[in-house]
Amino acid sequence: MTLQGKVALVTGGGRGVGAATAKLLAARGARVGVNYLSNEHAAKAVVAEIIAASGQAQAIQADVRDARQVAQLVAEVVEAYGRIDILVSNAAMHSVLVPFEQITWEEFSQRVNDELCAAFNVTKAVLPMMERQQCGRLIYIASEHARGPALPGSIGHGTAKAALVTFAKYLAYELGPRGITANVVSPAMVETERNAAFLPESVKQRVAASTPLGRVARPEDVARVIAFFADDDSGFMTGTYAPVTGGLGLSRRGIIPSMEGRSHREGITEADMKAER
Ligand SMILES: NC(=O)c1ccc[n+]([C@@H]2O[C@H](COP(=O)([O-])OP(=O)(O)OC[C@H]3O[C@@H](n4cnc5c(N)ncnc54)[C@H](OP(=O)(O)O)[C@@H]3O)[C@@H](O)[C@H]2O)c1
Repeated sequence: MTLQGKVALVTGGGRGVGAATAKLLAARGARVGVNYLSNEHAAKAVVAEIIAASGQAQAIQADVRDARQVAQLVAEVVEAYGRIDILVSNAAMHSVLVPFEQITWEEFSQRVNDELCAAFNVTKAVLPMMERQQCGRLIYIASEHARGPALPGSIGHGTAKAALVTFAKYLAYELGPRGITANVVSPAMVETERNAAFLPESVKQRVAASTPLGRVARPEDVARVIAFFADDDSGFMTGTYAPVTGGLGLSRRGIIPSMEGRSHREGITEADMKAER
């Protein structure tokens, strides 16, 4: 129970990575504010599961893109539990893929704006409490799209997440002297209900096949890394970027596809290079 006495706010805690995180933080002793946008049923199911396991949690509706609603959200957590030690800025907003040639400036800037506005609002709202406490854990959920293209059409999402990563580094720099850490947890594909509904199974299989650990992440894989950054064990880490990828992206597969599966002792042949040209 390493988080005993701590209070966490998880945005988008009703489903996917956020739900797994809320449950894990609660299982480790934290009291948890489970934020959601519209799916009250899912958020209440998470809370019920936590309470059934003798934890403490509360579902709170708020659109994290709206500063007034976020102020109310944080006030409700503080009213219920007296403090906020851990912020997990996780809410997932846009899922539609649109390539550069088709995306309008309005759609593109909306994606970047929503991602940053959400992180900005919740950080601003929890900061006074964390400053008073002289400690706090800010954890932002990015995506491996932040490091570069992975799926066609993710230019808006990837750019937004890359900005989020830089935002978190500046927070780490500015808030470190006040005992507040800021870290980024960055999953590759996660097996969530939303992905199951939105991506063909063949995409998941292809990602799993390219992943050294042989599968895509489960929400619980990501939640455990988030819990590490919530815990005192990571207290001297700030400004970091933690990929939760099962090793996806380590190998430069595809650079010489004709060599895949062959021993390197056989060397690179002229035929391989011709196959590339
Ligand atoms: N799934 C992946 O493959 C993947 C990969 C890399 C990174 N990520 C990142 O991981 C995080 C979680 O993603 P996920 O796939 O677990 O999400 P998800 O299953 O789609 O759930 C999204 C959650 O965010 C909430 N939400 C959406 N818009 C919101 C808003 N404006 N204000 C408050 N809450 C809002 C939803 O509330 P309702 O339930 O009420 O709608 C829901 O609880 C996101 O930051 C995402 O970008 C996901």
